Amino acid sequence: MAEITIDKTACIRCGACVDVCMIAGVFELGEEGSQPVHPERCWDCGHCVAVCPADAIDHENFPLEECPIIDPELLPSIESLEAALRARRSCRAFKDEPVPRELVRRLVSIGRWAPTTHNSQSVDWIAIDDRLRIAELAKATIDRFLHYTGLAQNPVLKPLFTLAIGARNARMLRRYRKVAVSLSKRWGEGEDPIFYRAPVILVAHTPVGSPFGCDDAGYAAYNLILAAERLGLGTCQIGFVQGIAARDRKIRERLAIPTSRALQVVLALGYPKHEFRRVLPRRDPNLVWNPR
Ligand SMILES: Cc1cc2nc3c(=O)[nH]c(=O)nc-3n(C[C@H](O)[C@H](O)[C@H](O)COP(=O)(O)O)c2cc1C
Repeated sequence: MAEITIDKTACIRCGACVDVCMIAGVFELGEEGSQPVHPERCWDCGHCVAVCPADAIDHENFPLEECPIIDPELLPSIESLEAALRARRSCRAFKDEPVPRELVRRLVSIGRWAPTTHNSQSVDWIAIDDRLRIAELAKATIDRFLHYTGLAQNPVLKPLFTLAIGARNARMLRRYRKVAVSLSKRWGEGEDPIFYRAPVILVAHTPVGSPFGCDDAGYAAYNLILAAERLGLGTCQIGFVQGIAARDRKIRERLAIPTSRALQVVLALGYPKHEFRRVLPRRDPNLVWNPR
C-alpha cells in the first residue's frame, strides 16, 4: 500500500483530489482539508498529485521532484496537432540507412505516455535491427501465410481445417490466398513485400491474458508513430506479421516473444525514401447523437 500524506498547512481545501479520485475514493474532504482515508484503495494513477494546485500531497510513488509542472507553451495548438495527424502516412519505401538506436529508445520511451488499462504501463517492446533476421522473418511470414491459405483451400483438408479454426477464419484465409501467392512471387523477385526493407522492426507486447492488451499496445504504438514522423522517420504497421504470429508459435519464437507475453503490434521503422506532399481526403465518420 502506497504511503500518502497531506500537508495540512498547504492544502487549500479545493477538493480536487477528492474529485479526480472519485472511483477509488482514497480522499475525503473534512474541516481540516483533504485526508487520505482509504490509501489501501489507491491504484497509482497519480491524478491526485498531478491535479493538486498547492503541491500538498506527498505520494510515495509520485515524488514531486519526478513530476514536473506541465508547460502549456510546449503543447501543440489544435491546428498543429491536427496538421500532424493529417500528415501522418504509412511508409512503404525506406532509405537504406540505419536508425540510431538512441532514436528508437526515445520513441519507445515516448510511447509510454499513452493511456493503459488501470495505468498498468505493461507495454514492452522488442526491436530488431539485424537485417538478416528481418529478412528471415519476412520470408517465414510469407511461407506460413502460404501454408495456412493453402490448407484453407485444400479440398481434402478443408473440412478439418475449418473445424479447427472456425468457418469465418477459414473463409478469410481462402480470400487471402491470392495475396499470399503474390507476396511469395514478389519475394522471389527480390522484393520485401512484408517490411519494405525497413532497417528496424518494432514489436509491442503485453502480458498474456491482459483483457485490454491490444488497446494498451495500440495507443502506445500510435504515440510512437506520430513521434517518429516528428523525428523525420516513417513507420508502417505490419498486420500481416501480427495475424500470422497470433496463430503461429514459430513466428512468435523468431521474434523471441516471451511465453508470458502476447504480441500486439508490429511496426516497420526507418527513414522514408519519399516525402508525402499532400493530405488525402478521408471519409468523415458518421456521428449520431442520442440514438434510440
Ligand atoms: C491494424 C493495421 C494493420 C496494418 N497492416 C499492414 C500491413 O500488413 N502492411 C502494410 O503495408 N500496411 C498495413 N497497414 C497500413 C494501412 O494499410 C494504412 O494505414 C492504410 O492504408 C491507410 O494509409 P495511411 O496509414 O498512410 O493513412 C496496417 C494498418 C493497420 C491500422
